Amino acid sequence: MARMPLISGNWKMHHNHFDAIALVQKLGYVLGKDDLEAVEVSVHPPFTDLRSVQTVLESDKIGIALGAQNCHWEEKGAFTGEVAPPMLAKLNVRYVIVGHSERRELFGETDDDVNRKVKAVLKAGMTTILCCGETLEEREAGGTDAKVTGQVLAGLDGLKADVVGGLVIAYEPIWAIGTGRTASAEDAQAVCGLLRRTVAGKWGAAAAESVRIQYGGSVKGDNAPALMACPDIDGALVGGAALEAESFAAIVQFRLAAPQG
Ligand code: 13P
Repeated sequence: MARMPLISGNWKMHHNHFDAIALVQKLGYVLGKDDLEAVEVSVHPPFTDLRSVQTVLESDKIGIALGAQNCHWEEKGAFTGEVAPPMLAKLNVRYVIVGHSERRELFGETDDDVNRKVKAVLKAGMTTILCCGETLEEREAGGTDAKVTGQVLAGLDGLKADVVGGLVIAYEPIWAIGTGRTASAEDAQAVCGLLRRTVAGKWGAAAAESVRIQYGGSVKGDNAPALMACPDIDGALVGGAALEAESFAAIVQFRLAAPQG
């Protein structure tokens, strides 16, 4: 069975709740019913915007899934400044990004933290987008494969095959994030193919066949068609280009453009 592509907009620390409302209303206008039937779309605003975005998506019946960028692994407690997975689930959040390289690099998240977060998100009834990716130094030293497979095996450790089959993994080479430097479709496919084989080796063929693998790192409307044409790439995790409706819609509508190169 073909995997439904998932295009996700990670807004990072951009847009207050007024900007967020305007952006999702515009997305609801520029993305037609056909677009949202062919491709699943999620938006991941900052926490302070979630309730506003939820209200617009639900009241205007916009077929875009609500996502979050992070969460804590505990359900509640004395964890000042943190947000618990059940709080996100209560807002009808469907996807939670876990282990983004910015969380790992800037906030010291370890593979163990990531694994706890993955389990907590699943326990609360949501789905994870588990991120992995190598630095430029690691790539140049030939360490890409070990880094990304290590992050995925550690992040999903202890999960059953049927659960893994329903998840999303995002391959985001750190050197391609926010730099305008995209991995070539060949390089992105090579790593995403490796990740699928890694899932097959640990959780079996059925899980590998159904798990969705996104590419992220300077995805734009013009490079999306070639990336999306790769057999093991099932969508995109988009940063900068997700901050405006036109540039995000151009990625969601990748089928309308002819692949380049
Ligand atoms: P850019 O699309 O801005 O490179 O960001 C990618 C990313 O980090 C998405 O999570």
